[in-house]
Formats: sequence, C-alpha cells, structure tokens
Amino acid sequence: MTIKLVVIGGGSSYTPEIIEGIILRHHSFPVTEIVLVDIEEGNQKLEIVGQLAKRMIEKSNKPIKLSWTLDRKEALKQADFVSTQIRVGGLTARSKDERIPLQHGYIGQETNGAGGIFKALRTIPVLLELARDVHEICPQAWVINFTNPAGIVTEALLKHSPHKKVIGVCNIPYNMRYSTAEILNTKPKNVMIEFIGLNHYVFGRKVFVNGVDYTSEVLTKVSQGLDYSPANIVNLGWSKTFIEATSLLPNPYHQYYFQTAAVLKKDKQALEENGTRAEVVRRLEKSLFELYKNPDLCDKPKELEERGGAFYSDVACSLMDSIYNNKADIQTVNTLNKGAIPELPEDSVIEVNSVITKNGPQPITVGALPNSVKGHIYQMKAFEELVIRASITGHYKDAYLAMVMNPLIGDEVGSKTLLDALLEAHKDYLPQF
Ligand code: G6P
Repeated sequence: MTIKLVVIGGGSSYTPEIIEGIILRHHSFPVTEIVLVDIEEGNQKLEIVGQLAKRMIEKSNKPIKLSWTLDRKEALKQADFVSTQIRVGGLTARSKDERIPLQHGYIGQETNGAGGIFKALRTIPVLLELARDVHEICPQAWVINFTNPAGIVTEALLKHSPHKKVIGVCNIPYNMRYSTAEILNTKPKNVMIEFIGLNHYVFGRKVFVNGVDYTSEVLTKVSQGLDYSPANIVNLGWSKTFIEATSLLPNPYHQYYFQTAAVLKKDKQALEENGTRAEVVRRLEKSLFELYKNPDLCDKPKELEERGGAFYSDVACSLMDSIYNNKADIQTVNTLNKGAIPELPEDSVIEVNSVITKNGPQPITVGALPNSVKGHIYQMKAFEELVIRASITGHYKDAYLAMVMNPLIGDEVGSKTLLDALLEAHKDYLPQF
C-alpha cells in the first residue's frame, strides 16, 4: 500500500510544517512518498526547503521517499493527495494588494476587500488548470486547498473544474478552538465550536467542552480583551456591547468588517512603521531561509510560528489521516453546503463542521442563520460568486461588480479608482482581462 502526497507550492517557507505533520502522524497515516512541486521562480527556495525536508525525514527514520521538481505533470502521477499552497505573483503581488487599497483609504488585506478580490482573480485560473491536470493524471486524488482566498478558490474549483474531490482548509477555526481551550484551561481536543459562515467570515455560535455548553464563559472572556488573532492581523479586541448583542464568537478577520475605521488607522500606522505585511513576511522569510540552509537543522524551526498560518499542517494532516482511515470524526472544512445552511445555495462552499470519511466531508446541519448575521453572510456569499465569475470571464464590469458589492469597498467611484489601479498593477498575472 502506498500513499503519495504532492505539495503544490512546495518551495514555500511553510513546507516544514507539513513535513513535520506527516512525520508525527506516520503511525496512522503512513505516507510513502512526498513530492514538492514549484515553479521556475521558486526553484531556489524549493532546493533549500527540499534539503531541509530531507534532513527532517532522515532524522525521523520514517520510510518516506522525498523528491522535488518543477515538473508538475510528472509529479502528479499516482498521487493520492495534492495539497496546494501557492501565491500567484508572490509577495510582490501581495504587497500591492495590501498597499494600494490603503493608499486609497480602503482596507488593504491579503484575503479581504480589494486585496482578496485581486488574489482570487490571479489565483482561480491557475488552480483551475491544476485541477484539470489532477483530474486527468490522478483522478483518484483528493485536492486539499490551502491557497487563499481558500473558500472562494474552493468554490471556484468545485463549480468550474471537472475534479470534484476538493476540500478547502484554513487554520482560523483551528486557532479559535486552540485559543478557546487555552482560556478554558483544557485541551483543544475537548473543545467543540459550532461554526457558522464562510472562510475568514466564520462565527462560533456555541462552544462546548466535553459536551457542556461554555459559550457564555468564552464570550465574556473575549469581551474582556482576549488576544486570539494570528500573527498576520491586528488584535483590537471586542466590546462587551458587540459580544452581548450578537452572542457570537467573531473570528479575528471580522475586525475588518466591524471595526473598519480602527483597523484602517492601525494598518496605516503599521504601513508607515514596518511596510506592508508582505514586506514583513519577506524579511521573516529571509531569516527563515537562512535557518533552513543550516545543514545541522533537522526540525521545523520555532521561528516559523511567527507566520499567520502557523500550525496549518495540523489541519491538513488530520484531514488526510481521517480520509485515509475513514475515521468519521468531525473537522472544520470548506465544502459544499448541501443544505447545511438552508438559506444558501446547495452548491455554495461554506466553512462548516463536517464528518470526515473516505468519501470526504459530509457537512453537519447548521440550520437557519441567526438574524443578526444573516444579511452579512448572504452579501458575502453573493460577493464571492461575483468574484468567481469575474475571475473566469475577465470582464471589467464583472470585476467592478465584485468591488462595488464588497462590504469593505462599496463606493461607486472608489471601486472604479481602485479597480483601475489594481488591474494595472497586476496586469502581468491577469491574462483573462
Ligand atoms: C492566517 C490566515 C491564512 C493566511 C495567513 C497569512 O493564518 O488564516 O489564510 O495565509 O494568516 O500569514 P502570513 O504570515 O503570510 O502573513
């Protein structure tokens, strides 16, 4: 029995995470082969990460064959799992997504607002091509998509590619469970959060510890200033009034929507002091790669935890483990709604607790959306559909609609100004426009 994992974007500084995850789970999920794939521009990074991954595997003594290559089609042969972690246009493009909106007075973020729209426009066509290759070369494989904006990209793949074995994952629900466990002084495995919503727009409706409802304790702590933001975004905390009125656990990205002015102020200040998050990450990556080059380093370095996506591999590896072992446990993933939220289309992708078996995720019924957030979730889903359409048609008016219907942009004139500036800035990566 063999298990082959292909990591698309294998030259990423995050890769030691997934290697560690595979090593740690090898007793239950015995991967036999890993292939790291990257593109020409990522070649140097791929070589450094590949060598570190090799040392990590050698140290672990696990019988895992490892290789790295720029030949994606060759790598995909006989793959069982294909994980994707790519950034079309690299950190340079991300920096533009963050800086240009801020310069025009709008939120500039990698996955939200105008930045998120442009990341989706650049990424969807590239991943659709990958999904077509997967379908042709290794139709049996599960695609585990980490590539942002993860929910939107996953929906685009499920709707517009022939390959249907696609699952989107994100570390935010995982982080929320971990932070909750910490404040309740228990282990994450004892915590269950009922999630409702969409990727980077998900709320926790109920928190249970070993089946006992701890929602109000957690909400109280959150309104007292608990810090549960990942490294990449600000933590402003939530007012007691907001938490009491909504009775929901917001995720850190909700700050962009419900504390827009305050985040803008903080982000502008951060831009002046440190540059964009992409520029901070570039510096972080530089020192990470210096560490990775050390031939004596055989483990994932602690410094990797300074990245916003720290621990993402736990999410990916647990998911693959459960599919492989037909575990029927519950994990939070991005998958087809299939009626879990009755008000949203059956074929919308939502972020939802799901039972994971060898057939993939089966979403657990969420039920009707609370009135408080119903309007926002509808709007976000409708906006996501507009972005997907624009990424495929390449029509100016479709992209404009996505901009103007996004709650972080909205302004008629501002949307056009921003759209024109970003289309120009990213033209090399938007051949469809
Ligand atoms: C969070 C998000 C991820 C995102 C990451 C960015 O964890 O959930 O979707 O990719 O942060 O982190 P970075 O260190 O690249 O800013």
